[in-house]
Amino acid sequence: MTPREFNYLREVLHERSGIALNEERREILEGRLRPMLKTFGFASVSELTRAMMRPDGEYLRGRMAQAVTVQESYFFRDKTPFNYFGETILPRLMEAREASHAIRLWCAATATGQEPYSLAMLIAEWVPKLDGWSLDLLATDFAEDALRKARKGLYSQFEVQRGLPVSLLIKYFQKAGTGWEINPDIRAMVQFREHNLLRDDGELGVFDVIFCRNVLIYFDDATKRQVLARLALHLAKDGYLVLGAAETTTGLSDAFTAVPEAQHGVFGLSPAALAARVPKGNGGTDAGPARPAFKVAPDTAPAFAYSCR
Ligand SMILES: C[S@@+](CC[C@H](N)C(=O)[O-])C[C@H]1O[C@@H](n2cnc3c(N)ncnc32)[C@H](O)[C@@H]1O
Repeated sequence: MTPREFNYLREVLHERSGIALNEERREILEGRLRPMLKTFGFASVSELTRAMMRPDGEYLRGRMAQAVTVQESYFFRDKTPFNYFGETILPRLMEAREASHAIRLWCAATATGQEPYSLAMLIAEWVPKLDGWSLDLLATDFAEDALRKARKGLYSQFEVQRGLPVSLLIKYFQKAGTGWEINPDIRAMVQFREHNLLRDDGELGVFDVIFCRNVLIYFDDATKRQVLARLALHLAKDGYLVLGAAETTTGLSDAFTAVPEAQHGVFGLSPAALAARVPKGNGGTDAGPARPAFKVAPDTAPAFAYSCR
């Protein structure tokens, strides 16, 4: 690959995904593109890059950005945010949304689905208390392949061994060949949709909780700022933004303030962001599309019974 081709790929990648690659990542970039050579019948990364440069190379440019991104995820990743969600955020929201009985959650940059399914399993443990509630759990990513896998809800033995407690594996999965398939009722709780954090125009509405974990780390500061500014607009005024363990809003956005009692990675809207909001008058989730009713199984566990500690 020539320096010109490398710079071209870097530019396309940044423009499509927000990911900023430096010169040292050259070999990694080539390695990630190798499967595309086979899929599309190119002899070298140079040949693939030249095809991308052509006016009709749009599809390849999009596929390249997806091929280069890291789509790793696992169940209950880092544990703490999931514990905080189950033990603190969900009970607080149920109190705050007593009038509307409606909660909206968004997993942005969800990858292969382990994150929203972890939340869905936690919610299922609350089911009797959520009887009659409307609950949206939206999971988005810009990578089609990752979403395809997420929708199937089919995971290898290795994948279910990463972070998923055996008790939840037994309760919420069925053996499928050499792997495991998530139960249809858990799968039905999550709605998957293609969405690029860089092209977000607000169409998804307002959420009570946004998980946006382990994606900002790949962006340069300017992109992080843009994405955080948009996420602030998607958050209900008393909502929670949950970032990855190595991610922060500090120095990037004054719209958020860390939730002091939560461990690292949980943020609410700052007083400045709240003051800038036009009052909507209903005190809770204040926008978003129509909410499908949350189907409740009659006799599941009596209360929140699971902690990932
Ligand atoms: C490392 S995974 C994180 C998955 C999950 N959130 C977790 O923490 O386990 C990063 C995900 O971000 C997605 N991604 C990268 N850039 C994106 C963008 N601009 N818009 C939406 N998703 C993006 C990738 O496709 C990938 O699935």
